[in-house]
Amino acid sequence: MVNLGETFPNFLAKTTVGDIMFHEWLKDSWGILFSHPADFTPVCTTELARVVQLQPEFVKRNVKVIALSCDSVESHQKWCNDIKVYAGCSGDVFPYPIIADENRELATELQMIDPDEKDAQGIPLTARAVFIVDPNKKMRLSILYPATTGRNFDEIVRVVDSLQLCDKHKVATPVDWKPGQDVMVQPSVPDTEVKKLFPSLTVVALPSGKGYIRKTPQP
Ligand code: BEZ
Repeated sequence: MVNLGETFPNFLAKTTVGDIMFHEWLKDSWGILFSHPADFTPVCTTELARVVQLQPEFVKRNVKVIALSCDSVESHQKWCNDIKVYAGCSGDVFPYPIIADENRELATELQMIDPDEKDAQGIPLTARAVFIVDPNKKMRLSILYPATTGRNFDEIVRVVDSLQLCDKHKVATPVDWKPGQDVMVQPSVPDTEVKKLFPSLTVVALPSGKGYIRKTPQP
């Protein structure tokens, strides 16, 4: 189990582009590791296709993406053709690697297993986990969805934008925030400093009179 802010484990994995040591493969990039239950299944195909379509957005943000399931490299490679066609992608090369965790070592270590979803042999499959890792290899986000609910990868891009912005400035992003919209000053910034750091600040008046909602245009 890895907690937010802890170093994400380094691991050696068999993938569609050969063996990868995770930290060395990431180099100075951000990373998104996401798992799915199985190859050649409908919801998984839509998810991996969306990640193909979003690849330019990940590149723009210096994010490397890697998928994982318990099927073999050969199965992943055949499935990649379906995913590319479903995504409407004409390129020859599949834009991100897929880990073949056939013995479930990594899925078990990272607690990606869904005990309710089993393969034909009755062995539990991986759930829909997502981990975001920063360039210091710290885990910054962890989510776990059940097999029957496809994820929203636009939301994952939005989280990356929020993380990268809030690493640079003492701000936090509010509900449903989209890049370009106002952000909140972090509660740790004292009122004595806030005007210096954020001259365009507005404080929202609320019944408590505590002045804790301090909005500013996105730095
Ligand atoms: C799917 O990807 O469609 C799926 C996989 C496992 C269980 C349910 C749905």
